[in-house]
Amino acid sequence: MARRSSLFVMCLLGAALVSCAGNSSDQASNEIVIGEFGSLTGTTATFGISTRNGIDMAIEEVNKAGGLLGKQVRVIVEDDQGKPEEAQTVVTKLITSDQVIAILGEVASSRTLAAAPVAQQSMIPMISPSSTNPRVTEVGDYIFRICFIDPFQGLVMAKFATNTLKVKNVAILRDIKNDYSVGLADVFADNMKQMGGAIVADESYSEGDTDFSAQLTSIKARNPQAIFIPGYYTEVGLIARQARRLGMAMPLLGGDGWDSPRLTDIGGEALNDTYFSNHYSVDDPSPAIQNFVSQYKAKYGETPDALAALGFDSANILFDAIRRANSAEPVKVRDAIAQTKDYPGVTGKITLDANRNAVKPAVVLRVRDSKLEYVETITP
Ligand code: PHE
Repeated sequence: MARRSSLFVMCLLGAALVSCAGNSSDQASNEIVIGEFGSLTGTTATFGISTRNGIDMAIEEVNKAGGLLGKQVRVIVEDDQGKPEEAQTVVTKLITSDQVIAILGEVASSRTLAAAPVAQQSMIPMISPSSTNPRVTEVGDYIFRICFIDPFQGLVMAKFATNTLKVKNVAILRDIKNDYSVGLADVFADNMKQMGGAIVADESYSEGDTDFSAQLTSIKARNPQAIFIPGYYTEVGLIARQARRLGMAMPLLGGDGWDSPRLTDIGGEALNDTYFSNHYSVDDPSPAIQNFVSQYKAKYGETPDALAALGFDSANILFDAIRRANSAEPVKVRDAIAQTKDYPGVTGKITLDANRNAVKPAVVLRVRDSKLEYVETITP
């Protein structure tokens, strides 16, 4: 009797240990559970959807090939609706109730910045596929990104404006509550001035706005040769239409935030003679890109944007780290991610530097008749 009850207590204890001892990927579990958060709804819905598609493709591939450490990978996806507060809430939920061993996300810098402190404090590695604001990885040593950062992207577009378009007097129209937009606008302005250019107007709007006529009218009065609009695709599409309607025919310039299959649906013809920097071009003949593009098209029926490619790469970099760590323990996975070197991603060779950022080239794309054309590649 005594033996039976102590056995019973031990089982209870054992069960408690298994369920309390942290992560779903403990020995007892036959799967590795990771988290993902993004905007699956709202004015930046394609950011989250494309990223999820890319991540799903990577998971399907790894599971088909036998999984990781003999286990299948499962992702729990949360929609933050494009809201920073919601991003923090869902990441807290992924860590505390789902007990994920690592997190992929977000796209938008403001959302990553809101959620990253939770991951950092919980010591759960987070990889942003595409947040470019420099402050993102400064949150701490558990926070990584696999894309270039805005000081580089802003330089790329200032160089492009100065050297390729040969414009000097430019206006800026920025999204004032968006960390990415404000940061990129500042870097672009600094670089333009250093190259001998001038910022003749600097106007702002807020995400969700639909009428930009006041800002565009005052920009028009300053007669700029180009307008830099470092925003996200929904507002950018509307701004382009309204600018053209006001008779403003100058080139419009932007950053990666323009990238969406919806951009040209919204902006249409108004987007002719516009240019933006991005993480990759589907026209790149490299086999890695062409393979990815054709597989993605077969699976989802559309051309992958940069977010899909970066989502795919971010998941694969995490899997590569888990393999090298030979463990799914968050601390060990963190250390292995930090050592990522020359990983052959779709978006280029990925090496993480001491600040947990990737150093990669950027491409400049032109929109013409609702299609994106490759213009040039600029290396750091
Ligand atoms: N870089 C943007 C940000 O930090 C997000 C983004 C990346 C959007 C790539 C589109 C494409 O907010």
